[in-house]
Formats: sequence, C-alpha cells, structure tokens
Amino acid sequence: MAEPSRSVHVDEDHGCDDKSADGSQQNPYKTLLFALIQHQPLPSGAPQYFTRKKEPGADQGPAVSEVHQQWLPATTSALKKATKLYDQHKRKQAKGDELASREKQEADKRQQILDQAKRLHIRHDPHLPQAIKIRLDEKDPAVVKLRSGQSEKDVDDSDRRGTRVRVTGRVHRCRAQKDVIFLTLQDGYGLLQCVLTGDLTKTYDAMTMTLETSLEIYGEMWEVPPKQHAPDDRELHADYYEVIGKAAGDKEAITTRAAPDADPQTLYDNRHLVLRGDHASAVMKVRAALLRAFRQTYEEITPSCLEVTPPCMVQTQVEGGATLFAFDYYGQKAYLTQSSQLYLETCLPSLGNVFCVAPSFRAEKSLTRRHLSEYTHVEAELDFITFDDLLAHLELVMCRVVELALTNPQIAKLILDLNPKFEAPERPFKRMRYADAIEWLNEHDIRTGEGEPHKFGDDIAEAAERKMTDIINRPIFLTHFPAEIKAFYMRKDPQDPRVTESVDCLMPNVGEIVGGSMRMEDYDELMEAYKRVEIDPTPYYWYTDQRKYGTSPHGGYGLGLERFLAWMCGRFTVRECSLYPRFTDRCTP
Ligand code: 4AD
Repeated sequence: MAEPSRSVHVDEDHGCDDKSADGSQQNPYKTLLFALIQHQPLPSGAPQYFTRKKEPGADQGPAVSEVHQQWLPATTSALKKATKLYDQHKRKQAKGDELASREKQEADKRQQILDQAKRLHIRHDPHLPQAIKIRLDEKDPAVVKLRSGQSEKDVDDSDRRGTRVRVTGRVHRCRAQKDVIFLTLQDGYGLLQCVLTGDLTKTYDAMTMTLETSLEIYGEMWEVPPKQHAPDDRELHADYYEVIGKAAGDKEAITTRAAPDADPQTLYDNRHLVLRGDHASAVMKVRAALLRAFRQTYEEITPSCLEVTPPCMVQTQVEGGATLFAFDYYGQKAYLTQSSQLYLETCLPSLGNVFCVAPSFRAEKSLTRRHLSEYTHVEAELDFITFDDLLAHLELVMCRVVELALTNPQIAKLILDLNPKFEAPERPFKRMRYADAIEWLNEHDIRTGEGEPHKFGDDIAEAAERKMTDIINRPIFLTHFPAEIKAFYMRKDPQDPRVTESVDCLMPNVGEIVGGSMRMEDYDELMEAYKRVEIDPTPYYWYTDQRKYGTSPHGGYGLGLERFLAWMCGRFTVRECSLYPRFTDRCTP
C-alpha cells in the first residue's frame, strides 16, 4: 500500500515507546498513544498511522511472523481510543505543569521574602531597662499580671511592670502564626514560652527557625492570657534575640534523625539526640533524683551507711564466670567488676555499714529487656545482722527512696507523667519462700522454658518469674533459694541447709530488682564453697581473710538502678533507663 509522506508506524510486538523509536518502519513505536504524543496532530493535518501486530501462529517462529505481518492503517476505533487516552494525558500534563509553575512561583516568592529578610537586622534598644539573666525554671521575676478577661493588647503602659529578663536555651517547640511566632525554649532546668512579634518574626533567622537552635532572648515576662496555656502560665514577650547556634534542618532536622517512630537501632545510634526529648530527659531527671534519695536514705537510717567507692578493675568473680568481661591488665588477666559486694564486705570492720553506687558489668548474651552489659549497681553491706534484719532494712530503704522521690513535686510530676498508675508499694512486702513459689507456679500451670512443671532446684526462668510477679502484682521478697542455684558466698539456712538465706525482690512489670543474702561467715565453709564451684581461692585471699580476722554474721544486697527506674517510670526496657545503654553488640555512642 502506498503511504503518505507523514506516516507513523506502531508495532505492538516489536516497537518501543522510548527515544530509540522514531515511528519509521524500521524503528516503530509500541503504542498508538505514544505515537500520538510524539506526533501531535498539526493544523495542517494529522499524520497517518500504520499498525501491525502478530498474526495468529506467529509465535511458532520468526520466519512465519515476518511473512504474515503487514502495515495496515490504524482502525478508526483504535485511533478513537488512543485519542481519548491522549486527551487524558494532555489534561494530566497541563495540571502537572500548572502545579509546578505554582510551586515555582511560591518558591520564588519565598526566596524573595527570605532575601528581603536577610537585609532586615533587628537592633537591641539601648533605652530599655537592663535585662536580668534568669534560668528557665526561675519563678522570681515579677510578671505582668493580666486582669481576668483582659488580653495583652488591653494592657496599658502603667500595667507593664514585668521584669525585663534575658534567657538562653534551645528551641523545643516552634509554632508560627500569621504575625506571631511562639517558641518554647528549653534549658535543661525548665521550659519557657517566648512570643516573637513585629520585625522579630521577619528576620531570616526567624523565618528559618529550626528545633534545637540555641538562642538568647530578651523581653518582658507576662502572665498568659486567660484560657491560654503555657509552662508555668507565663510567657516572655521578646523585644530582641540573638541566634547563638542554628540547628540543622530539612533532612538533618532532629525530628528526622530521631523520629519517635524510627526503628530502635536508629534511636540507639542517635541516643544523644533522643536524650533531648521529653521522655528520655524526664527519665534521666528521675534517675538523678533516685540517686540523691538513695544517698539521703543511707545517711538518715540507723545505723547509717557510709559511701565507699570500690574498684571496677578486679581479678575475682562474684556472680559466675560466664558473664565476666576480661581484659589484659599489664600482661595479667583482669575483669570488669560484676559486683562490688566482696569489697564492701571488707569495709565492715572499720567503717561499719557501707554502700556504694558503682557500675557493674555483665557479659550477658541475652538480649532481654532487663539486661544491660553495664549497669548502675546500688549495693549495701550490713554487719552483725540476721536475715530478718536484712529484709527489714531492704524494705525500709526501697520504700523511703520511693517516698523521697514522690515528696518532691517536680519529680513526682515526672514519674506520674511517665507512669500515671504508679503508687508507692504497700508495706510489708509479700514474703514467699522459693519452695512455695515452685508450688505456686505449678498450681497456676506456669511451666519451665522446656514446658515442664517446675520442681525444687530449678532456676525460675525470667518469663515464669515475670508471670508470677504480674499476677501477684505487688513487690515480693522471694527467699531461701537452693544453694546449688545461687552464688558460692551465700550462707545456708541453719534450719534447712538445702537452702540459703537469700532474697530476690521482684516487682510487677520488671521482675527481679534486687538480689541479696547473708554471707558465709565460717572460714572452712567458705573454703568448701570455693571447691564446690571450682574457684581457685588464691586470688580471694583478701576476701577469705574476713573470716580469719574477727568474722561476723553479715549480709547485703545489690539493686539494679535501671530496673528500679523502669519499675517506677513504667518503662518497657532498662535500656531507656540508662544514659547511654550498653548491651550485646552495642557500645556506641
Ligand atoms: O542478683 P545479682 O547478680 O547480685 C549480685 O550481684 C550481688 N553480688 C549483689 C550483692 O549482694 N551486693 O545482681 C543484683 C541486681 C539484680 O537484682 C538486678 O537488679 C541487677 O543487679 N542486675 C542487672 N541489671 C541490669 N542488667 C544486668 N545484666 C543485670 N544483672 C544484675
């Protein structure tokens, strides 16, 4: 068939809808729609479209298909269908072009405004009263009191008696309205809402404000208008500010790097940024309050406990070789301490009861939510006591620490914000012997990890222990564990030598928070115990000597601060309760 000069070819089987095609017979397109897009109808007329497709049986071999394929003018119905699609395509393209042009216009406008903003420099008015530097938690400066129903613009100059202050901090929240920017500044002590108006909102810095930017802001302190809310019901009406350090924005913005819904590993990698958040910083503040409370409690109880600081680098184990971190110490083998207990025991004769707050290290292979490789261990050792004295002391210390934390209104608020259901535990704590716990587990059909019923001598696994604690739902002193499943140094119960005078304190949601016991005081018994667990007594000479030089009935305990904190603050894992948590495979940042 003779073809007009402007002919466009479409081969549905061998054509291509890309730049390699030109509509010739040699390089045909694949679809009519693409052909229409490439050769839009001109006023002088549309080109003529030719198509070809596989003949039935063409799949049997190229030779057959070549023979049977012919270029035929596109059918009217095919052209109609393609034209309809082409019109749709044009409309979509026009919409896209319009959107792009609008976006460009807006970007140009914003750039213009930003360029203008760059030329605007705010100045510090030397006639204003001297500003007093305050921290954000300081409540002293007089605020301008708004009368009920009065708004800021109704206040005349005679009402303006608020102190002019100067504050520094970082932008914690930022909300821009038409001519006002509300910034909530944070300085680690408190939060303060700052209001920027007028030219202060039009500078380049104000228009590109990012969270965590550090600022110095000057202004007058006002009470917030009725029905509006701000921290401490006050706000700083800024008259001048300076940016001290602008924080990264866009892809680098803190909200992108440490987004609350990011995966846990990203959040651990960015723990330094996560710590700037409300939750993480609240937990750290409660942590500090608990440390203060422990120290105060040890000071105020009778007899008081003296704080000592035992070494972290040691050559002895306390809680079994499996969790020791070993290192080379000038050519000798040494370990990071698992517990300061043995050292605390050596202090009793000359210092009386002692305590320490020190890191303990456990090479735990388990990635559970309550195990860390490094944790803060609060340990105490008491001299000339009975097992009952130990339990009474422990209960007293734990309850007093909780009481001190809750009587501080700021700390109580942080705890209840984090864990609204938290209540101080009732005394006395439930006491339960290990043998009774085994029975209890079987009565409640709580099985071992292997799915077996529990029997005397089993180590109660974490899952079973947690189930029991959650059902009982109050603190439990679990006592009298069998000697074989406890550390070598624990004293046997004189009434039942199968068990030790030992205690674990279990808390709902967390499980074991404290481990403690009376210590073997008899020299020969201790030597036997070393033998039983195959520990060479030689490097323990200084510990054994306690039994040689005026032995005594004594005992103590260790409390994991992160677990205590997880219990009080209702945190899912102890990892949230450590400043920079260390656990299997993580020693960064
Ligand atoms: O039961 P543990 O192993 O007991 C001792 O270390 C004794 N020598 C303490 C003593 O009597 N002075 O540990 C005591 C507490 C546990 O109850 C738990 O709260 C915490 O230390 N703990 C851990 N916390 C976080 N991560 C770990 N891997 C922990 N291992 C123990």
